[in-house]
Amino acid sequence: MPMRINSVRRSRRVRRLKRMETMSKTAFITGAGGYLGSEAARTLARAGITVAVSDVNEAAVSKTVEQITRAGGTAKGYVADVTKQPDVDAAIRAAVSDFGRLDILVYVAGGSARIASRPEKPASYLPLIDQDLYVIEHVIEVNLMGAIYACRTAGKIMVEQGEGGKILLFSSIVGSEGLANVAEYGAAKGGINSLVRALAKELGPYQINVNSIAPGVVNRPDSQDIDRATRTNVFGRACTAADVANLVEFLVSDKAGFITGQNYIIDGGRSIAMKGSD
Ligand SMILES: NC(=O)c1ccc[n+]([C@@H]2O[C@H](COP(=O)([O-])OP(=O)(O)OC[C@H]3O[C@@H](n4cnc5c(N)ncnc54)[C@H](O)[C@@H]3O)[C@@H](O)[C@H]2O)c1
Repeated sequence: MPMRINSVRRSRRVRRLKRMETMSKTAFITGAGGYLGSEAARTLARAGITVAVSDVNEAAVSKTVEQITRAGGTAKGYVADVTKQPDVDAAIRAAVSDFGRLDILVYVAGGSARIASRPEKPASYLPLIDQDLYVIEHVIEVNLMGAIYACRTAGKIMVEQGEGGKILLFSSIVGSEGLANVAEYGAAKGGINSLVRALAKELGPYQINVNSIAPGVVNRPDSQDIDRATRTNVFGRACTAADVANLVEFLVSDKAGFITGQNYIIDGGRSIAMKGSD
C-alpha cells in the first residue's frame, strides 16, 4: 500500500506543477511608469506575465496599464511611494490579493539627483560636500530604502507561497565604479549590489533568485544631452529601453533559474574604460 500512496502523491505533485506551468505568473514592478520600468512592464506582459504596475506617478501608472491592456495583456495599477514602507507593503499585498500570487519583483524606481527636484528647489548634480541634504536623503530613500522595503514584503510572500520566485533590482554601473557629482546615487546603487548578494544567500534555499542589472547611459526621452548616450559606449549607438527590458525578461524567466547574486552590467562597454568621470 505505501507504494500506492507514494504514486498518488507523486501524480498529485506532477498535476500541481503542470497547473503552475500553465498559470500566468504575476510580476510586481516599481517605477513602472518611467522610461525603463514601463518598457519592462510591457515586455513582461507580452511574455504572458500578469503585471502589477506600480509608481508614485498616478498618470504614468494609468498610461502603462492602458498600453498593456490595449495590447491584450493583463495589468492593474498600484500607486505607491517607495519611500514609505507601509505604502510599499500595502501595494504588494493588494496585488497578491488581486492576482492570487507573486512570482516576480522588479524594482526599477530610482534615479540620481533629478528625482529629488521640487518646483521650489530644482536639484542638480553636485559634489557631496555641496549637495543639499534633502537630495542626498531622497536619492538614498528611493533607490535603496524602497528596494529594501519591497524585498522584505515580496520575499516574505514568496517564501510563504513556497514556489520560489525572482527578485530583480535596478543598479547602475555608477554603483560599482563611482562617479563624481552623484556620490549619493552611487552609494545607493552600491548598496543595491551588496543587498543582492546577501539576499541571494538568504533566499536561495527557498528557490528565490535575486539579481540586479546595471545599465550605463540610457537615452531617456527627457535627456538634456542626447549625444552622451551614443558617446559613452563602444557601439556608438544609444542603449534603448528595449535593450534593458530584454535582459529583465531573461533574468526573471525560468531560463535564468541557476543565476543568483549577480549584478549584470548592460552598458555597451562603457565601464571597460570608465576613469571616475566621463
Ligand atoms: N536612464 C539611465 O541612464 C539609467 C542608467 C543606470 C541606471 N538607471 C536606473 O534605472 C531605473 C529607471 O530609470 P529611468 O531612466 O527609467 O528613470 P525614470 O525617471 O524614467 O523612471 C523612474 C520611475 O521611478 C518613479 N519614482 C520616482 N520616485 C518614486 C517614489 N518615491 N516612489 C515610487 N516611484 C518613484 C518615477 O515616477 C519614474 O516613473 C532607475 O533605478 C535608475 O537609477 C537608469
